[in-house]
Amino acid sequence: MRSHGLILLAIVLALYCCSTTGHNGEQPLSKIAIRKTTLATTVAARIRASPLVLGLQGQTSEWVTVKFSHPNPSNDDWVGVFSPANFSATTCEKENFREYEPLLCTAPIKYQYANYKNDDYNKTGRGSLKLQLINQRADFSFVLFSGGISNPKLVAVSNTISFANPKAPVYPRLAQGKSWNEMAVTWTSGYSTEEAVPFVEWGELGGPQIRSAAGTLTFSRAHMCDSPARTVGWRDPGFIHTSFLKDLWPNLLYTYKLGHRLYNGSYIWSQSYTFRASPYPGQDSLQRVVIFGDMGKAEADGSNEYNNYQPGSLNTTYQLIKDLKNIDIVFHIGDLSYANGYLSQWDQFTAQVEPIASTVPYMVGSGNHERDWPGTGSFYANMDSGGECGVLAETMFYVPAENRQKFWYKTDFGMFRFCIVDTEHDWRPGTEQYKFIEHCLSTADREKQPWLIFLAHRVLGYSSGEFYGIEGTFQEPMGRDSLQELWQKYKVDIALYGHVHNYERTCPIYQSTCVREAAHHYTGPFEATTHVVVGGGGSSLAKFTPLRTRWSYYQDYDFGFVKLTAFNQSTLLLEYKKSRDGLVYDYFTITRDYRDILDCAVDSCSKTSMSS
Ligand SMILES: [Fe+2]
Repeated sequence: MRSHGLILLAIVLALYCCSTTGHNGEQPLSKIAIRKTTLATTVAARIRASPLVLGLQGQTSEWVTVKFSHPNPSNDDWVGVFSPANFSATTCEKENFREYEPLLCTAPIKYQYANYKNDDYNKTGRGSLKLQLINQRADFSFVLFSGGISNPKLVAVSNTISFANPKAPVYPRLAQGKSWNEMAVTWTSGYSTEEAVPFVEWGELGGPQIRSAAGTLTFSRAHMCDSPARTVGWRDPGFIHTSFLKDLWPNLLYTYKLGHRLYNGSYIWSQSYTFRASPYPGQDSLQRVVIFGDMGKAEADGSNEYNNYQPGSLNTTYQLIKDLKNIDIVFHIGDLSYANGYLSQWDQFTAQVEPIASTVPYMVGSGNHERDWPGTGSFYANMDSGGECGVLAETMFYVPAENRQKFWYKTDFGMFRFCIVDTEHDWRPGTEQYKFIEHCLSTADREKQPWLIFLAHRVLGYSSGEFYGIEGTFQEPMGRDSLQELWQKYKVDIALYGHVHNYERTCPIYQSTCVREAAHHYTGPFEATTHVVVGGGGSSLAKFTPLRTRWSYYQDYDFGFVKLTAFNQSTLLLEYKKSRDGLVYDYFTITRDYRDILDCAVDSCSKTSMSS
């Protein structure tokens, strides 16, 4: 009977989560029926790209001009960008025996319609596009198609263009190591360990620089769980290197650059970057933390536009870059790139966040779009990862987890303790993850680290998202039922979630009841956890249910992010800012002394305590 129960549970979860994600996270490249491509070449059609060589000053991105002409133009003509430039179908496999060998079996890395900003294209047959390319380890070619993206007909192929050094080390991303005084630097290059030795040269700003070795990871097509990651979306990931900069002095500024020593004795260098070492755990000083989920990536050149991704994702990124001097650490709590099995998009995501991630620790969580795939051990058996089944997120970003396949970890930052949960693996009592959660919450030294923050991708607490409203759960099933006693017992100040693409804040709440009225200022002893949904990082927005609850205090259907500011061990500020203007639309403060933390709240002290 137990196995029947488990099967039923799996079916319920599979059905449930497909209904929760809907079309919100669809990858634009998946709309292109590339395997249906047929030939329609004509000598009268032309497509040409310039300049021929990119990144001559060491840049890792550059704008190119693509000019084209077609004797028989149509409004559904489009241009696909392929990388590597030789996109022949040599690696194709038939999907079934009735099918002919496809002409093409690799998705472009981006696409745009030929009439984009070329209003009279369908009359003149002439047009040009400005496209932004990033260095991603291979050359590029541009292809003019007719027939729309659902029935592509290959009309003309361009010349090849390339970055001066396609293998260059790029897109460093920092993360806190397993201890507070260790910074992990992860980057991507085209250099295997057989060609070069990867390392980071680093030291205190203005001081002597030392070199630290880096480890190298990669993966093959066989590591992907299924299509499209294993088929049309596959692209060689290059090599992902991580070096651990250890024994940092708290708060000091450091510089670093990425290096590869080739076996012929020459060196390849990245540009130089700067970061500030993290504060000592418990250090009483100004500490500023940004948290959001579901940002995805978008294209500044307007390509791949689909599902309204552009304004949110780019605006969030721009606001954070603009305010970077006032940000100390960032948490992106799942649904990172929405590559969904189109691997080229991970390079583009790391390029988009590089100005942030190369300067402050960029800590990531795992979401359904990183991990979920049927039959691969994910808690939900849906297809939201596009066959990546976690491999990309676990390799492209370092997190201080014991086992990066199990994406839960804790990290200390000054007066904060963060417990980051992996909602794509079981969290219920009796599981390995539940033990981690209790250990993380219970080992925070609240005198020194008073601000205890719980982070997860799916909403384990409270959300008025439309799909949770339809289910009548206002949460993931088995979320707060499993965890609310822990939040209460260990006095979690704030729990934040993504997955629902909007912003919402509750009253301090326990067992679906407001323990006190929501407010902008809370003083005195802890009473209950405040739950915040901050899933409006960039992916298309999610509606609220029209059902009204007593606990939902503030709702905003817009793109935005949260900033936590700990002024000292007595005052914490939460601000919700919109991505469109960076202004504050909701906020609250918590003010309390250490004796307030020691006080008992409902179910927070043992039943035998005299105070009860
Ligand atoms: Fe999600």
